[in-house]
Amino acid sequence: MSQIDKTENSPQCQDCVCEFNRLEEARFWSRIMQEHALFIKLGLPADQIKFIKEAQDFIERFMELRNRLARVSKLEGDLLRDLKQAVRDIIEFKAKLLRLLIQCKVEPGSNYPLLLDHIRREAMHFLDLLHKPVPEDPLFALLQEEVFWLRIMKEHIEFIIHLLDPSERELIKQAKEFRKTFSRLLETARDLESMNETMPKNFNTVIRFTENVIANTMELRDFKATAFELASLCEILSIISTPLLLDHVRREADKFLDELEVLLPEARKCHSTLGMENLPCCQD
Ligand SMILES: [Fe+2]
Ligand SMILES: [Fe+2]
Repeated sequence: MSQIDKTENSPQCQDCVCEFNRLEEARFWSRIMQEHALFIKLGLPADQIKFIKEAQDFIERFMELRNRLARVSKLEGDLLRDLKQAVRDIIEFKAKLLRLLIQCKVEPGSNYPLLLDHIRREAMHFLDLLHKPVPEDPLFALLQEEVFWLRIMKEHIEFIIHLLDPSERELIKQAKEFRKTFSRLLETARDLESMNETMPKNFNTVIRFTENVIANTMELRDFKATAFELASLCEILSIISTPLLLDHVRREADKFLDELEVLLPEARKCHSTLGMENLPCCQD
C-alpha cells in the first residue's frame, strides 16, 4: 500500500498514524450535511417545489441519522451503511442541481454554482473519510488536509464577500484581505504537496508553513464568529439566508484547526529536524 511506501524510510513511523475517530467525524459531518440541505432549500426559487421537497427530505434523513449517531459508541453495521448511502445520495443531489445550473436549465435562485460545488466536495470528503480504512502518513495527511481545507476557507471568504450588502464596505474590505492571504496559502500548500511526492524524510518548511496556516485560520475563525454574532443581532446588511450559514463556516474553520492540532505534532516528530528530542514517534 502507498502508506507503507511513504514510511519505509522511517521505520519508527510505521505506526505513526493518528487515531481516526470515525464516529466523531460522522457526527460532525452529518450535521454539516443536514445544514447544506437547508441552505440549498433556502436558496431555491419558490416555484421549484420538487427540489425544495427533495432538500427537505435530506434535512429529515440526516436529522434521523444524527439521532442514531448520538446513541451509539461505534460506527458500524446498518448505521454505517445507511450513512454512506445518504451521503452518496446528497452528493448526487448537489451534482444534479449544479449540472442543471451550468446548463441554464433551472432558475438559479440564490445558490451560487460554486457553493453547490463546494458543498458537493465537502460531501465527497466525508464519504472518503467513511471509506478510508487506515490513516495516512502524517506529513502526507497534513498536506492533503491543508490543500482541501485552504480551498474551502478561501471559498467561504468569497461567498461572504458576495453575500454582504455592497454598503458593508468595512467588512468587505476585511474579507478581501483574507481572500488574498488564503489564496496565497492555498497556492503554497499545493506546491508543498507536490514537492512532498519526492518523499523527503524531513520537510521543515511544511512545519513553518503550517504554523502560519494555523495563525491565519484562527483569525479567519474569529472573523466568522463575529459575523455570526452580528447577523444574529441583525446588525449586518446582507442576503445571507440564515445566520446559521456563518456559524456553519466558523465550525468548519474550527474543524480544520482541530485536524491541524492533531497532525502537526505528528509531522513535526516524524518528518522534521525541529525539536528532535528523540521523542517516540506518535506515542507508539
Ligand atoms: Fe459546509
Ligand atoms: Fe464549507
